[in-house]
Amino acid sequence: MKHKISVIGAGNVGATAAQRIAEKELADVVLVDILEGVPFGKALDLSEAAPIEKHDAHLTGANDYEATKDSDVIIITSGIPRKPGMSRDDLLATNATIMKSVVDQAVQYSPQAVLVIVSNPLDAMCHVAFETSQFPKNRVLGMAGVLDSARFRTFIAQELNVSVENTHAFVLGGHGDTMVPLPRFSTVSGIPITELMDQATIERLVKRTREGGAEIVSLLKTGSAYYAPASAACEMAEAIIKDKKKILPCAAYLTGEYGINNLFIGVPVKLGKEGIEEIIQIKLTPEEDAALKKSAEAVKGLVEAMKKLEV
Ligand code: NAI
Ligand code: 2OP
Repeated sequence: MKHKISVIGAGNVGATAAQRIAEKELADVVLVDILEGVPFGKALDLSEAAPIEKHDAHLTGANDYEATKDSDVIIITSGIPRKPGMSRDDLLATNATIMKSVVDQAVQYSPQAVLVIVSNPLDAMCHVAFETSQFPKNRVLGMAGVLDSARFRTFIAQELNVSVENTHAFVLGGHGDTMVPLPRFSTVSGIPITELMDQATIERLVKRTREGGAEIVSLLKTGSAYYAPASAACEMAEAIIKDKKKILPCAAYLTGEYGINNLFIGVPVKLGKEGIEEIIQIKLTPEEDAALKKSAEAVKGLVEAMKKLEV
């Protein structure tokens, strides 16, 4: 049976994710946006590339949610991206209102779907999706760690002049300035980077990873990154659709794991057809644990600020 993935928001991240999903033939794709014409135009354009790209995924555009009925996965990218000078947190009120309305409509047609949240500020938007959907916690997760880890992997590969395929990295915590790249668990063909680089180099790469989103915003000027974010969302959707049991860093709702309660934050999880099938708990050093708790406090502050906004 063919799978169905709906992508809400046919902007830069959404349309690129739709392209990646179709080209990998993971599923048929429904692209939804409030803009008149745009989701239809992009779905048609992507469909017309199919004979050349050699795939048979069907792409459909929509302004409402009927076409999304019975989606296996719903990727939510709707909202506004940041511009130079803005932090992800500046998007809070606008994107929370959009997230609520989108989730409310989408889950009516796909009560069994797994929701993959992309819109920023990511961890807070996961809370909105979780509360609005009333889905079990395994079926609401956020994309950030896969992207942040991919950035770290890219910088490691460039620094050491090795294949990106040999690099693995873990970035935990919230998707913001307090994110926690873990050099100890970042490796090149199994060798920890702490064996391959001096401390100053590692710190430089960690800083660049933390500021990776802002680096792209300052170059693009009109919006934020979308090629790597779309790849990251697609990797998560693939793990779910193919029931791969892949271990990836994702924003997950913690209920005591890592000593954190009732909060979405980036941790390693096992992703399969049920969504988050396990939260992997690794023993952190006191410094790593303190950094994760600090990041959790920042997310908590944002969630509380959002509750006061009453969106
Ligand atoms: P974009 O502006 O290109 O696309 C957003 C789309 O959402 C627009 O087409 C807009 O019309 C649509 N939209 C707005 N309200 C809607 C509604 N109520 N229903 C359906 N569609 C609606 O922005 P881009 O670059 O695609 O980014 C999307 C979001 O993803 C932003 O919030 C951005 O900050 C976030 N993002 C998160 C990342 C992460 O690591 N979690 C990485 C990259 C982006
Ligand atoms: C990024 O990290 C904007 O959150 C987005 O590129």
